[in-house]
Amino acid sequence: TAGFMLKKTVVMVGMMGAGKTAVGRALAQLLRVPFLDSDQEIEAAANMTVPEIFARDGEPFFRARETEVISRLLGGCPCILSTGGGAFLSPVNQANISHSGVAVWLDADLELLWTRVRHRDTRPLLRTADPKKTLTDLYAARVPEYSKADLRVPCAPPVAIEKMAQRVADVL
Ligand code: S3P
Repeated sequence: TAGFMLKKTVVMVGMMGAGKTAVGRALAQLLRVPFLDSDQEIEAAANMTVPEIFARDGEPFFRARETEVISRLLGGCPCILSTGGGAFLSPVNQANISHSGVAVWLDADLELLWTRVRHRDTRPLLRTADPKKTLTDLYAARVPEYSKADLRVPCAPPVAIEKMAQRVADVL
């Protein structure tokens, strides 16, 4: 996409397993702009993984770092910024994102999300006795917040990551 000029940072929001990181990275390649990921930034700064941060310092500590990182990255050059699934729930993050970015909700349905997260052990929030129920409850609680994003891109029918990135580019 030659000549595409990104005016604002595109912030990928949505549930864990929606493909924010994979699609965000492909979108950045397509548009030839930098790609950043808030979870990766938090991990690099802490020199710990997200599960380690949750275990050692707790979720509130993680959320505080997440808000700092998102605010800092929004102050930089326009880029594609993928965020963790909980980031767009915070009113402060929502305000910061709407002020200097454009929020794109990757909207995947629960069954697709479950097939993607069920075998991974990287989500501390899903380390419960009944992770499918936890995911279902999180989904129900979060959809009203994700609906506040500027743009919504459905993940159904499913397509390859590059096509998903093209879908997002088409609505920007
Ligand atoms: C979280 C999602 C994770 C990560 C953390 C909390 C959430 O990111 O930020 O485990 O609250 O949904 P992904 O959406 O990239 O899995």
